[in-house]
Amino acid sequence: MELSKRALAVKPSLTLAITAKANKLKAEGKDLIAFTAGEPDFRTPDYIVEGAKEALRKGFTKYTPASGTPELKKAIAHKLFEDNGLEYQPSQIVVSNGAKQSLFNSLQVLVNPGDEVIVVEPYWLTYTELIVICGGVPVILHTREEEGFKLNPKKLESLISPKTKAVIINSPNNPTGVVYTKEEIEAIAAVLEKYEDVAIISDEIYEKLVYNGHKHYSIAAYSPSIKERTFVINGMSKAYAMTGWRIGYVACAQKFATAMGSLQSHQTSNPNSIAQYASVVGLTSGKEVMDEMVETFQNRRALMLDELKHAKSFHAFEGDGAFYVMLNISGFIGKEIYGKQINGAIDIAEVLLDRGGVVVIPCECFGTANYVRLSYALSEKDIVEGVRRIIKCLDGV
Ligand SMILES: Cc1ncc(COP(=O)(O)O)c(C=O)c1O
Repeated sequence: MELSKRALAVKPSLTLAITAKANKLKAEGKDLIAFTAGEPDFRTPDYIVEGAKEALRKGFTKYTPASGTPELKKAIAHKLFEDNGLEYQPSQIVVSNGAKQSLFNSLQVLVNPGDEVIVVEPYWLTYTELIVICGGVPVILHTREEEGFKLNPKKLESLISPKTKAVIINSPNNPTGVVYTKEEIEAIAAVLEKYEDVAIISDEIYEKLVYNGHKHYSIAAYSPSIKERTFVINGMSKAYAMTGWRIGYVACAQKFATAMGSLQSHQTSNPNSIAQYASVVGLTSGKEVMDEMVETFQNRRALMLDELKHAKSFHAFEGDGAFYVMLNISGFIGKEIYGKQINGAIDIAEVLLDRGGVVVIPCECFGTANYVRLSYALSEKDIVEGVRRIIKCLDGV
């Protein structure tokens, strides 16, 4: 029996092989520092956990409306108004099992086979896979470090064709940490305003994780016509340290929200009732707890970048958001180190694992072979020790 074409089209995760190898080595007792975390290392704040307990005590354990509880949709609408200046009716919000499902739902209601979706590289690896699952064609907009890894609106316009269905924008960005300024977002919006049939999927999941005075700005706030075709994606995972609870959401025009609600009703029925209840608590109180987490990330980022300044054979790209730093390892490509031919970041990641005692994510999975990604969602002690190991390993060849 053959696998479906859809299943065959999905690429296995490149990071899985290196993670599996790292886990095996760890189990054998090897001392490793992993810079791979794609989630905060903090526990979910107590006030949210208490909210979940209350949900259980109250018996809030049944199916909910497919697109989310009225209370949570109301809290999200309030958040979007307060934080982003965006006015949505609760009926325009669809709550899902993480922002990942919100992205998938958005693409499902937009993309027909053969439609093109523009993705900015380096990109979060899931975008291209979801587009392919929906029968769409990812069109990659390359950015370079010299451009600050930011998309150039002219380049964007040159990639728009009659087949373009959507553009995915992700700020703050995974894996670069790039945060677009309000002016930069406005320049992108000004181009897209001309293309009424092009939707904008704005992945704002790292919204709260911005440092050094940077501010997040949602493209949906640019104009009513841009808002009408923007899908604002956000969720509880990163800012509230709630990755395992699986609550994400999308806010968009009514007809798309209604379609996503129907789709979801057949796919997963509804997101977890207890997690939804706790998310209302998360969104409506406890701002100080989040501020503390953000401050911790800001300090770790500064520490990591300070340590990385000692490196001679590679350098760091300094983004201002999320919890990632990319290392430019292009100087090694085409060379042989520790007896290994280096053709890309996967090879560097293997050397760092075998010889350096650190685990990093090779950025081939984000569309570029010249970088590895480090997460700073780990303790200061491990950041210092891990970065020193990387420098010792790579500068020492
Ligand atoms: C850019 C980006 N968008 C979306 C997500 C998905 O978040 P969630 O856990 O809410 O599905 C992630 C998670 O790593 C991410 O990095």
